Amino acid sequence: MQTLSDLPALRAAIATLKSDGKPLALVPTMGALHDGHMALVEEARRHGRHVVVSIFVNPKQFGPNEDLAAYPRREAKDAQMLSAAGVDILWAPTVDVMYPAGFATNISVSGVSEGLDGAARPGHFDGVATVVTKLFNQVRPDVAIFGEKDYQQLAVIRQMVADLDLGIEIIGLPTQRAQDGLALSSRNAYLNDEERKAALALPRALGEAKRQMEKGGSVEEALTRAGATLIAQGFDPVDYVMLCDAVTLEPMHVLDRPARLLGAAKLGRTRLIDNIAVDPA
Ligand code: PAJ
Repeated sequence: MQTLSDLPALRAAIATLKSDGKPLALVPTMGALHDGHMALVEEARRHGRHVVVSIFVNPKQFGPNEDLAAYPRREAKDAQMLSAAGVDILWAPTVDVMYPAGFATNISVSGVSEGLDGAARPGHFDGVATVVTKLFNQVRPDVAIFGEKDYQQLAVIRQMVADLDLGIEIIGLPTQRAQDGLALSSRNAYLNDEERKAALALPRALGEAKRQMEKGGSVEEALTRAGATLIAQGFDPVDYVMLCDAVTLEPMHVLDRPARLLGAAKLGRTRLIDNIAVDPA
């Protein structure tokens, strides 16, 4: 595996890689890799694709009071894991390479990026869309792999790729979970033992609300109950628990088409998100 951090070296390495005509897959990450990321890498390698993984903790997607400085960084271990997984190139640009002095462009996707995390984290999805566009242009992959763990992010990227004719196939993979059901996340590293136990309330509350709704129970009641469970378990604040259209992410009040139940809440200093599919009978 080659680890590269400047653009001319990346371009040269990619030209060499692509010369055999096989497709190239990109897995964008912010590092502190876990089995959720590695499942994306495994998918990327299917069909004999070449694989580039990027690690870049993107300052533009963190708000002023968020955890940019504290975000876990484990470059050496990440590189080891990726090399062992057969990745061809680790693309790890510095902030100066990604955003040179004078950088002035912003990519903003309307609609799908406005509610949920877009409302709770103003500017977040502009930061994501801008950096992912740059990563796509730097690497020029045929395929890019994202996780459903960040369901709204996946929806924003699909919209952007369609709107801008980027011609990159986007593959979304199901959320990888710990044995007890908590979604794997780099931010789980912030949780102490007590918080780690309490964190389970998030997937459990979503699972319980899904069961109630799929049985025909009131959507509003199920959402209210899930929110109350989270608060009772020590989550504060609960940013949202919402049922949304699975594609447009418009809020739903009646389960009459394929939907996604999404939740976000803070436990101590750690903000956790999760989501599951909810289907009408
Ligand atoms: P990061 O949080 O590192 O996640 C990188 C990719 O891994 C994303 O597509 C995310 O959805 C996926 N992922 C994270 N946890 C997962 C899990 N438990 N199961 C399956 N997939 C999981 O998302 C970002 O970085 C950034 O916003 C990025 C897209 C790299 C842009 O900066």
